[in-house]
Amino acid sequence: MVVLGVESTAHTASVGVVDGEAKVLGLASDMYRPPSGGIHPREAANHHVDVLPGLVATALAAAGVRPRDLDAVAFAQGPGLGPCLRAGATVARMLSLAWRRPLVPVNHCVAHVEIARALSGLDDPLLLYASGGNTQVIAYGRGRYRVLGETLDIGIGNFLDKLWIGLGGTFPGGPALEAEARQGTELLPLPYSVHGMDVAFSGMLTATLALRDKGAARPDLAYSVESTAYSMLTEITERALAHRRKTSVALGGGVACNERLRAMVRTMAEGRGAEMFAPPRALCVDNGAMIAWAGELALSSGRTVSVERSAVQPRQRTDLVPTPWRETTGRGFAR
Ligand code: ATP
Ligand code: FE2
Repeated sequence: MVVLGVESTAHTASVGVVDGEAKVLGLASDMYRPPSGGIHPREAANHHVDVLPGLVATALAAAGVRPRDLDAVAFAQGPGLGPCLRAGATVARMLSLAWRRPLVPVNHCVAHVEIARALSGLDDPLLLYASGGNTQVIAYGRGRYRVLGETLDIGIGNFLDKLWIGLGGTFPGGPALEAEARQGTELLPLPYSVHGMDVAFSGMLTATLALRDKGAARPDLAYSVESTAYSMLTEITERALAHRRKTSVALGGGVACNERLRAMVRTMAEGRGAEMFAPPRALCVDNGAMIAWAGELALSSGRTVSVERSAVQPRQRTDLVPTPWRETTGRGFAR
């Protein structure tokens, strides 16, 4: 089957076309970058409305696929910013009606997880999903993805973005902070906030800005933040691996682009005799291909939705969404 997926949960508008083997046939993305400060939902939504029609055309052309070759149109139903979600959902509904193809709702977090699982070829990995709005350690169990641990306050990416803006930079902060951290040499003391399987970042944000006010150098701050925050994520991932007796871990989400995080989780996993996989960067960040692939899986177990019942769900949680394809169809390396 060939599915077109529309992603628009936050700052990125993206359209992907994927085949039944999770091969990305076409992918076109355009990220909204606020001129200063953080993301304004309505401005981002206006951006998505402007660019999505062109992205649909570009992704189809790159794939060499005509609308009549498609089996379904998938869209990110949630979680995300309401106005942004509605922009993508409106485009997907329109395409579904115009092309007479089923409409498939997809949970954005499940899509990050499923693309990582498909690309890794791993059967049943533990997943560390680290993005702007979300930070979760996830494992599959009895019909859906279970959240074993997560952030108690803000997502790690939002933390890095806010911090970088506080240090005088612009959005997105994660990649810039990574470059800055490479110049750092001194490990400054920051709150290490692990609570069982959960983590928290807002105390580290305050403490880092306080150190800056006392004259700490920005490269050292960046280096210390990466060291501390990624150690916290590595610790809860290791604890989950041990408790769930998993033999592999896959990364997903925009922060999984980070070399340091990848290296730390890899070292931990290999030390336990487990495998570690991180997708290519274009498929770690928000992208329409992961929505299309999760749409393939959902379609294979009949999870389509009528336009009338396709309202977006800005707070839809990972563990609220049934994933029957892992039980019933054997698709996507399911158990
Ligand atoms: P979600 O809706 O899944 O929470 P999102 O909308 O924030 O995700 P993603 O594209 O999954 O979007 O993640 C974006 C985040 O990833 C941003 O916070 C960005 O700073 C961060 N990021 C991107 N590249 C890197 C990097 N190299 N190092 C650290 N963080 C990064
Ligand atoms: Fe995301």
